Amino acid sequence: MEIRLHDKDFIPFISAQELDFAIQNMARLIEDDFADDVPVFVGVLNGSFMVVSDFMKHYKGSCEVSFIKMASYEGTTSTNEVKQLIGLNQDLAGRTVIIIEDIVDTGNTIEELKELFKKQNVKHFKIATLFFKPEAYKKDIKLDYVGIRIPNKFIVGFGLDYDGLGRNLPEVYQLKD
Ligand code: IMP
Ligand code: MG
Repeated sequence: MEIRLHDKDFIPFISAQELDFAIQNMARLIEDDFADDVPVFVGVLNGSFMVVSDFMKHYKGSCEVSFIKMASYEGTTSTNEVKQLIGLNQDLAGRTVIIIEDIVDTGNTIEELKELFKKQNVKHFKIATLFFKPEAYKKDIKLDYVGIRIPNKFIVGFGLDYDGLGRNLPEVYQLKD
């Protein structure tokens, strides 16, 4: 069923079941790669709260979780400036840090995060993202774990918003053209 948020219409795109499958898959891969380690998962707020919650329930190994708040979007377009709104208050030197993103679009946020964690002397810095828009990506930074590749169209739901609305939708919708 089509939905309306503010002034725009959205159509169903990815079901809750497909989302869960993709998240489960990422959790397995990371478990295998870091079985002997205690990774710190860092969720990027606001968008990643649902991904992180479901991911943590699927991840069976020892781990920690923390959050950082970044913002770059205004409405449906990315601004080039990424702001850090809430920082980390934990010493992560020598730790395995795995960023958990809802979506990687231009890559500006990821680039900013990479710089930030380089200064912290972490042992490993990895990136996991539920969604990736390859056509919008402008960086060479490798994405280590990608859930679902999607076309360069605006989506909402499962944590992702359009000007604040839509984050509570349990499945993902795509902007109708
Ligand atoms: P980037 O810095 O351009 O890679 O964008 C990253 C952030 O922009 C994501 O973490 C989201 O918060 C937001 N974003 C990118 N694409 C979408 C979208 O299709 N819908 C909603 N938010 C998006
Ligand atoms: Mg985000």
